[in-house]
Amino acid sequence: MQKLLIKGKKNLAGSISISGSKNATLPILAASILAKDVNLTNVPLVKDIFTMIELLKFIGIKVKIFKKKKTIQLKNSNKKINTLAPYKLVKTMRAGVLVLGSLLTKYKKAKVSLPGGCAIGTRPVDIHLFALKKLGAKIKIKDGYIIAEAKQGLIGNKIRFPSISVGATENALIAACSAEGKTVLSNCAIEPEILDLITFLKKLGILIQISGRKIIINGKKSVKKKVNHKIIFDRIEAGTYLIAGALIGKKIIIRNVLSRVIKNEIKILKKIGAKITVKKNIITITKSKNMKKINVITKPYPGFPTDLQAQLMVLMTQTKGVSKIKENIFENRFMHVPELKRMGAKIEIQNKTARIFGPSKLTGAEVMATDLRASVSLVLAGLIADNRTIVNRIYHLDRGYEFLEKKLKKCNAVIKRI
Ligand code: UD1
Repeated sequence: MQKLLIKGKKNLAGSISISGSKNATLPILAASILAKDVNLTNVPLVKDIFTMIELLKFIGIKVKIFKKKKTIQLKNSNKKINTLAPYKLVKTMRAGVLVLGSLLTKYKKAKVSLPGGCAIGTRPVDIHLFALKKLGAKIKIKDGYIIAEAKQGLIGNKIRFPSISVGATENALIAACSAEGKTVLSNCAIEPEILDLITFLKKLGILIQISGRKIIINGKKSVKKKVNHKIIFDRIEAGTYLIAGALIGKKIIIRNVLSRVIKNEIKILKKIGAKITVKKNIITITKSKNMKKINVITKPYPGFPTDLQAQLMVLMTQTKGVSKIKENIFENRFMHVPELKRMGAKIEIQNKTARIFGPSKLTGAEVMATDLRASVSLVLAGLIADNRTIVNRIYHLDRGYEFLEKKLKKCNAVIKRI
């Protein structure tokens, strides 16, 4: 099994180009089932994207990948469509459940494996199913599968989500595109990746209006045949490298971002004390010797993202005083804490809140990655630790970070895959 070896304490300097967003690409790939001919650019070529492509091929979509151009072409000739998403493809990547909305709305039926829990929490799909039922789907669960049917097609409705969910908003939004009439979704997630999905769906010719957390969709039975779309940048990847810059950056330049999308994260890093300048979507960050404690709560966008919680915690080990992070989205997302403690961090957890006592000196150790973002937090810890750190189970990292070692090495980090 592959591991990452990091020799810490090397100041980082250089330029990092941010890849396209994995979490925007996944629902857009699922929504591509609705169209005939789709061309996606700025696609991050990471494991989760390849798994979604496998799933689309299984369903009957023809997919071509142009690796150098970061482009994917998808063609749906509507022949030999299999409205099934099997367990073997959904179990490794929960976003597989997003094909439910598109299959159901276009082909009036779908059988999709229940994704099950994962390391960061139980992660049910009840809100997805609640919304699809409101659109008229008959749904039953049998043998670990969601079996959904809408013999006469889906019908628009007013749906208020009981709590904010990114995936459920995406599934309902896609399903409403080919439902009959108007759908009004309220209490929606409004993550930038959802806005990118809406931009894509509008290119298909669907009328969609958004105001606050309300999204109004006018369904259309047939959509435009050919669509080109450039995927938005990965704000979590950008946030991760900004934190690397705040930790050990002599001068890191982050490119290919829209700074307004991550203004909250930039504000928090500035408050901690990192030296940041933003010029025309190019962000420069340098570490500061005097970093101050901060309290952060993870929330749906525009709040601070749960997907950056583990990385921010590493930075908090270097700030002066007691910082706090309350994890409000997932119930079990502190699994990086025992590993960070083994490297010398002083952290206490009580219920949903972690208290981080800083600054502490981190020392390299052999550590175990448990999920995507926890893994990258251990890499960040390795970059500032004495001696060498070995991060095990890095297949988690490969699910979501494109060219991680290459990007860090370009900034003088000593990191290699063994
Ligand atoms: C997406 C992101 C993930 C991110 C998360 C929160 C993708 C592919 N993944 O995941 O990286 O961490 O948003 O920003 O975009 N919930 C229910 N029932 C449901 C659905 C969700 O109880 O039917 C709960 C979840 O367990 C969780 C919370 O709602 O506690 C938010 O989850 P959700 O926003 O749905 O996350 P995902 O779409 O799975």
